[in-house]
Amino acid sequence: MKGIILAGGSGSRLRPLTKVTSKQLLPVYDQPMIYYPLKTLLDGGIRDILIIVAPDHAGDFLKLLGSGKDFGCKFTYEIQDKPEGIAQAFIVGQNFIGNDSATLILGDNIYEDTFKDEIASFKTGARIFIKDVKDPQRFGVVEFDENNRATSIEEKPKTPKSKYAVTGMYIYDNTVIEKVKKLQSSDRGELEITDLNNLYLEEQSLDVAFVDGRWFDTGTFESLHEAIIFVRNRELAKKKIK
Ligand code: DAU
Repeated sequence: MKGIILAGGSGSRLRPLTKVTSKQLLPVYDQPMIYYPLKTLLDGGIRDILIIVAPDHAGDFLKLLGSGKDFGCKFTYEIQDKPEGIAQAFIVGQNFIGNDSATLILGDNIYEDTFKDEIASFKTGARIFIKDVKDPQRFGVVEFDENNRATSIEEKPKTPKSKYAVTGMYIYDNTVIEKVKKLQSSDRGELEITDLNNLYLEEQSLDVAFVDGRWFDTGTFESLHEAIIFVRNRELAKKKIK
C-alpha cells in the first residue's frame, strides 16, 4: 500500500493567510497542518509516501519534511502544476503507485481516529470514509437506499440527500489509474474525486466506512479554528494525564 498526501491547491478561502505560504504549512496549534494527515498515514502502517505540492512552495515542504528519515518513512515529491482536481493526484502519482494500491489523504484533513485495520484489510475496489455533519452542502454527500446501501455521491449538492459527508481519505486499488483517465473535467475545470468514487460505485466495488471520532476539513477560517481548539484541548489533556 502506497500513501499520497495531496497538498497543492491555492488555499484561496484562507487568504491572506495563504498569500505567502501554503495552506498545509499553516500551524494547527503546535504543528504544521500537514503533520496531521501524515500521522494518519503513518498510524495506518504506510511507509512509502508521495507528497504532491503546488509549484510555489515546493521548497518549503522539502525543508520541513525532508527525506522522511525523521518520520521513519520515505517521501517522494511531485509538483501539480495547476490545481486541476483532487483525482489528478492519480495521474501525477502514476509512476509512484506502480502496480500497488494507494491511500490518498488531503493535506488539510485532520482525523482523531486511526485507520490501521481499514487500511490493512483493504483488498480490491475502493473504500471511502464518511461522517455525519451539520453542513453537508460543503462536501461530497452520499445518498443511501432503504437498505442503507450507497446509491450515489453528489459533489457539494444544494439540497443534500443525506447528512453524510465523504471525508478526505480514500483507498483505491490499482484500477484507479485507468479509471481516472476516463474522467472528464467538471464545470469548475477539475477532475473530481466524487466522479472517481461514482465509477467504483457503479461497479459495485465501493466500500463505505464510518468515521467515529472527530474530523476536520480545515479549508475555512471557521473549521481551521475549530480544529486548532480541538488539538489544543487534546494536547493539554494528554499533559495533565502525565
Ligand atoms: O474534505 C473533504 C472534501 O474534499 C470532500 O467532501 C469533497 O468531495 C472534495 O471535493 C473535497 O472538497 P473541498 O472543497 O474541500 O476541496 P478543495 O478544492 O478545498 O481541495 C481539498 C484539498 O486538496 C486542499 O487542501 C487543496 C488540495 N487540492 C485540491 C485541488 C482541487 C490540491 O492539492 N490540488 C487540487 O487540484
